[in-house]
Amino acid sequence: MASTVLIVYYSKKGATEKMALEIAKGVKDSGENVVIKTFADCTVTDLLSADAVAFGSPTYYSNIAWQPKKFLDEMIFDFYARGYSLKGRLCGCFTSTGGYDDGRDV
Ligand SMILES: Cc1cc2nc3c(=O)[nH]c(=O)nc-3n(C[C@H](O)[C@H](O)[C@H](O)COP(=O)(O)O)c2cc1C
Repeated sequence: MASTVLIVYYSKKGATEKMALEIAKGVKDSGENVVIKTFADCTVTDLLSADAVAFGSPTYYSNIAWQPKKFLDEMIFDFYARGYSLKGRLCGCFTSTGGYDDGRDV
């Protein structure tokens, strides 16, 4: 049975969105199901329904942008409070940057 890969991203100018769409294409081409959401639209149910999650953010000041940070901070709090977990799921992240060096450790 195909796995479901959730791709969640924030993009202001479109570069990170382009990456998200390319990743989605790769996931589909490999025969898995893909759900693609912005952080603004992503719900707890989306996270819990996925077998794997890829988080995408532009690099802002050598870090993730505040929109994904806010989502993660609030979502983690919610997860703790409700006893939810993503244990056992594959998770990854991707970023787009304006420079060559920055973002490698985001
Ligand atoms: C507020 C702000 C801070 C940024 N900080 C960095 C940075 O620290 N390092 C870097 O390489 N690029 C930085 N950039 C450039 C963005 O990471 C880059 O343009 C990114 O591709 C934008 O993604 P988007 O098109 O999905 O919005 C910054 C851009 C903005 C608007």
